[in-house]
Amino acid sequence: MAGGELVPMAETKTILVAGATGQQGGAVARSLVKRGHRVRGLTRSPQKIAALKDIGVEGVVGDLTDNASLAPALRGVDGFFIVTTPFNPDFSVDTAKEVLQGTTAIDAAAKSHVPHVVLASVASADEDTGIPHFESKAAVERHLKTSGLRYTITRPVAFMDGYTAPWMLEALRGGVLSLPMPPETRQQLVAVRDIGEMVARAFDSPAKAAGKSVELAGDQLTIADLTARLSTKLRQPLKYVEQGEELARQRMGEDGMRMFRFFREKGYHVDIEALEREWGHRMTRFDEFLRDARLAPLG
Ligand SMILES: NC(=O)c1ccc[n+]([C@@H]2O[C@H](COP(=O)([O-])OP(=O)(O)OC[C@H]3O[C@@H](n4cnc5c(N)ncnc54)[C@H](OP(=O)(O)O)[C@@H]3O)[C@@H](O)[C@H]2O)c1
Repeated sequence: MAGGELVPMAETKTILVAGATGQQGGAVARSLVKRGHRVRGLTRSPQKIAALKDIGVEGVVGDLTDNASLAPALRGVDGFFIVTTPFNPDFSVDTAKEVLQGTTAIDAAAKSHVPHVVLASVASADEDTGIPHFESKAAVERHLKTSGLRYTITRPVAFMDGYTAPWMLEALRGGVLSLPMPPETRQQLVAVRDIGEMVARAFDSPAKAAGKSVELAGDQLTIADLTARLSTKLRQPLKYVEQGEELARQRMGEDGMRMFRFFREKGYHVDIEALEREWGHRMTRFDEFLRDARLAPLG
């Protein structure tokens, strides 16, 4: 967090965090713990409970698609952070699965009279993009809005963290970054840690956050610029090569191909300044994210 920012003193709450073993939920859990809240972290794997304990989170076993497993996890909570995913371990996309996770979790929250639900969606989810995993999030958003629950929707753009993930670093070892976008395409990015911070702020200010959809971005830069900055960070020459649409379709399927077409033709358009002003939080810039990122050295 940037110096000088005030973390408001708030009452201690108990929040159930889905995806606590993943990127967004992990960041949310850490931000809430830092603010002194009690965090229950939902996971499908009893084996992951010990790691959650290490970050101050009480692990609870449950599945977002299994209503009965959520009732005990939701008992007595003040809030529920829901993150859904359509991705299978092989990166294939199952949008029906994502909708089922979201609607089941929302119905369980309504049954348990949860005072505040924060749902992770994606920026531009409401813009009829035709990208299957944006449309599934839009369907979950609609379900939440008609549930009667007090809600906030967070809509992040693409994660900065994706550019330093092990699979990306592995790909960069060859000295080439290749995406299906021209190098001058402007891309908005957000650091996952800022998602955690903003969700924690929403739980701390439910009256302010209620009924809002908050699009989250921290920086915007061209793909050429992004490549240059990654090259400096990695201390390795990096060339950007635009990938053709057919190769992109083969590699990432129809869903990924449509998402990159959206990035090329329209792109995310979050007003970062307005976001910072409204929430009193300076979002992380890509340079700052890279400065703090610890990377495995390239071979
Ligand atoms: N990457 C990006 O740039 C980006 C940008 C905007 C939005 N998004 C969206 O972010 C979402 C993924 O979030 P993420 O990256 O934080 O997730 P992640 O790191 O891939 O982790 C997925 C989490 O979901 C949990 N999970 C999966 N299925 C579950 C189920 N049936 N019941 C309970 N928990 C379940 C997993 O927990 P366990 O395995 O422990 O059960 C895990 O913690 C996707 O919907 C994606 O579209 C991504």
